[in-house]
Amino acid sequence: NKRVKIKTILDQNPIGQEITLMGWVRTKRSNKNVSFIALNDGSIITNYQVVADPNLISEDILKKCSTGACLKVTGIVVESQGAGQSSELNAKSIEVLGEADPEKYPLQPKKHSLEFLRDIAHLRMRTNTFSAVFRVRHALAFAVHKYFNDKGFFYIHTPIITASDAEGAGETFRVTTFDLMNPPKTEEGKIDFKQDFFERETNLTVSGQLEGELAAMALAEIYTFGPTFRAENSNTTRHLAEFWMIEPEMAFYDAEDNQDLAEDFLKYVINYALEHCADDLKFLDQRAAEEEKSKPADQRAELGLIDKLKFVLENDFVRLTYTEAIDILRNSNHNKKKKFQYLIDSWGADLQSEHERYLVEKHFKKPVILTDYPKDIKAFYMRQNDDGKTVAAMDILFPGIGEIVGGSQREERMDKLTQRMREMYIPEEELWWYLDTRRFGATPHAGFGLGFERMVLFVTGMGNIRDVIAFPRTPGNAEF
Ligand code: 4AD
Ligand code: MG
Repeated sequence: NKRVKIKTILDQNPIGQEITLMGWVRTKRSNKNVSFIALNDGSIITNYQVVADPNLISEDILKKCSTGACLKVTGIVVESQGAGQSSELNAKSIEVLGEADPEKYPLQPKKHSLEFLRDIAHLRMRTNTFSAVFRVRHALAFAVHKYFNDKGFFYIHTPIITASDAEGAGETFRVTTFDLMNPPKTEEGKIDFKQDFFERETNLTVSGQLEGELAAMALAEIYTFGPTFRAENSNTTRHLAEFWMIEPEMAFYDAEDNQDLAEDFLKYVINYALEHCADDLKFLDQRAAEEEKSKPADQRAELGLIDKLKFVLENDFVRLTYTEAIDILRNSNHNKKKKFQYLIDSWGADLQSEHERYLVEKHFKKPVILTDYPKDIKAFYMRQNDDGKTVAAMDILFPGIGEIVGGSQREERMDKLTQRMREMYIPEEELWWYLDTRRFGATPHAGFGLGFERMVLFVTGMGNIRDVIAFPRTPGNAEF
């Protein structure tokens, strides 16, 4: 007998047919005459009810059908007596594929805190909340590929191990095969990376952008979607040391084309989730609403999760320059009453997430595309504007998230780029291959990076980025 998924049963309602279901027990209720087992097989948020008659199924087997156990149930689909589901499975036979000792199994049929579940991340996907999150995550990843594929972009796989630090922030994880207690040394007593595996210093990539630019100079419109690594010691609900980034890079695009693409892309992906994850989003919407209730009234979100997603789809993102944003922030009551931790007193300051969220959540109440940042707070590759002070950068800020996208038009002019690199102490020899894109067949081009987990966070309404990636890597955490 082949396995039938719960999702298929609910879609097709095969009353009267014999089927085999395989899944994990969520709960069991028993009396003398009958046992009701709620089974989940991961295909959908809904548990399916198995009805077991103790005259047909032995007491020993029924005892083993405890929360967490894995079962293979064969039976007949019948109209359901109770409310809720339209059908249930009358078990003819139950095979216990894997027991879960109730004395030892950490997940009980009750609500566990997210903190508790984080400590058992190896089991938490078995809860409704996490299985919903990971189904939505899957749909979002699929939507990313679908969007770009439909637009004729090519998916490029950029290296995980590199010798460069694209963002220049010095937050890289070193990759080495050396015995750290006893590395080979040069005559001057320095560690001799020439003797290491790659015959040079290497690190995990912080961004696939530089290699993406190389590809865009051949295939015109490309995107990457891969893991990126940052050793920034920020213990926040928005930062991971290992996260997935989507980086489209397009020849012949200017800053405005880049903004248009980013807005269209973000809306597409959100809409895809609304259309394809209705059950999971309904569940997560209710979960988020419960969560809101526990907050003080003045801190609660104005919109529920699904309404928030629809709101983003239905409204144009606000576009404004960094300079305009600084004016708004500087003159805000929030700033005057010193409610920001970092007060905005001068042009040039980097925006903290409290400022980004003020603009999005309090001032505009819409997603914001902030452009034309001071060059000194942005990466070397961004195109310099004619004012000599700013670059053609864009950050997209989302409610509840802050920065979700960072991007720019790139500096395609060789002289401007190398001058900027010198100012920022970035050795030209190390990026000779990158500079070749400017030496040969250079053209205006632009791109951006979407932090995938921040998108998953936004769409699922979860509050902590550690809860939208299966095995989060954060400072002090790499166990599972
Ligand atoms: O703004 P970032 O650093 O930009 C880049 O890496 C560019 N190379 C992108 C490009 O133009 N191709 O990072 C891009 C996005 C951020 O907006 C944020 O969403 C996410 O990546 N991000 C993180 N997400 C989780 N944890 C972290 N530590 C992150 N750092 C950045
Ligand atoms: Mg950024």
